[in-house]
Amino acid sequence: MLACDPAKRLSFNQTISNGDLVIVYEKHDSMKAVTASEGSILQNRYGVFKHSDWIGKPFGSKVFSSKGGFVYLLAPTPELWTLVLSHRTQILYIADISFVIMHLEIVPGCLVLESGTGSGSLTTSLARAVAPKGHVYTFDFHEQRAGSARDDFERTGLSSLVSVGVRDIQGEGFPDEFTGTADSVFLDLPQPWLAIPSAAKMLKQDGTFCSFSPCVEQVQRSCEALRTYFTDIRTFEVLLRTYEVREGKMESLHEESNGSNGSLPSKRRQCSDGNYMFSSTISTVMAKPSGEARGHTGYLTFARLKCL
Ligand SMILES: C[S@@+](CC[C@H](N)C(=O)[O-])C[C@H]1O[C@@H](n2cnc3c(N)ncnc32)[C@H](O)[C@@H]1O
Repeated sequence: MLACDPAKRLSFNQTISNGDLVIVYEKHDSMKAVTASEGSILQNRYGVFKHSDWIGKPFGSKVFSSKGGFVYLLAPTPELWTLVLSHRTQILYIADISFVIMHLEIVPGCLVLESGTGSGSLTTSLARAVAPKGHVYTFDFHEQRAGSARDDFERTGLSSLVSVGVRDIQGEGFPDEFTGTADSVFLDLPQPWLAIPSAAKMLKQDGTFCSFSPCVEQVQRSCEALRTYFTDIRTFEVLLRTYEVREGKMESLHEESNGSNGSLPSKRRQCSDGNYMFSSTISTVMAKPSGEARGHTGYLTFARLKCL
């Protein structure tokens, strides 16, 4: 998921090797993660794809099946991983994730504490943000879920940047060994206010805090708890509006039969004032709001540790 040499950016020149994780992209709402393996095949509605054809090709390549269908082989970035990972819980998506990373001011080298880990969607982006020298310590009280997240971080090549612990953070707080060391703390818990005193204890002076909650009642209780230790408390709801860009037909009205559309066939229409207008149909690229746009996901409450 990350280039080994931090000086090199993941680029389209990087080639696929045997054992690499690849995002097989059919279209924006249809893709899956596949480990390229010499001798294996991928079968989908576009035909049969031999993995051996993928090996040695640059990420971003278009590859063809035996019956002429095609898919793209993309590098497994955190943005794409979030769209293909297996959902063991509700997850955070790109709009919230990017907002969290920006507002928490997470940069390479940061130490970040997180709970709950859930499906590791946010953790994956946190790991990339702190790489190559920082670290994310993430905790979930659900042992099996923590184990699956650990397996995923192995698979995505992030295990050196993330440690997964099994712990009841609402009941016990974060481990004492992190006291005063964290640049940022992120909570996605059902009762985050219970973990806020511990979060405050873990943060460095001026450290940043964020809590994600789907319900406003959770936000109210969290804000009450935050006021004891934190300043600059702000809550946001990120609403994303996506557009579909597609080719379509559009009617164009003009005053003359050979008006702005040159030689296109036009129909004559009489207007209410008795004058004639000409209409012709033209092909154009249009952007329209997507019908499947996501609405409310949750509220993000940010705060900064009070300086003593
Ligand atoms: C909604 S999920 C987190 C999803 C995650 N943010 C993501 O993007 O994939 C919430 C997680 O919190 C965990 N959790 C709930 N109560 C907890 C507690 N007291 N201590 C630690 N983890 C807890 C649950 O097991 C669950 O995995």
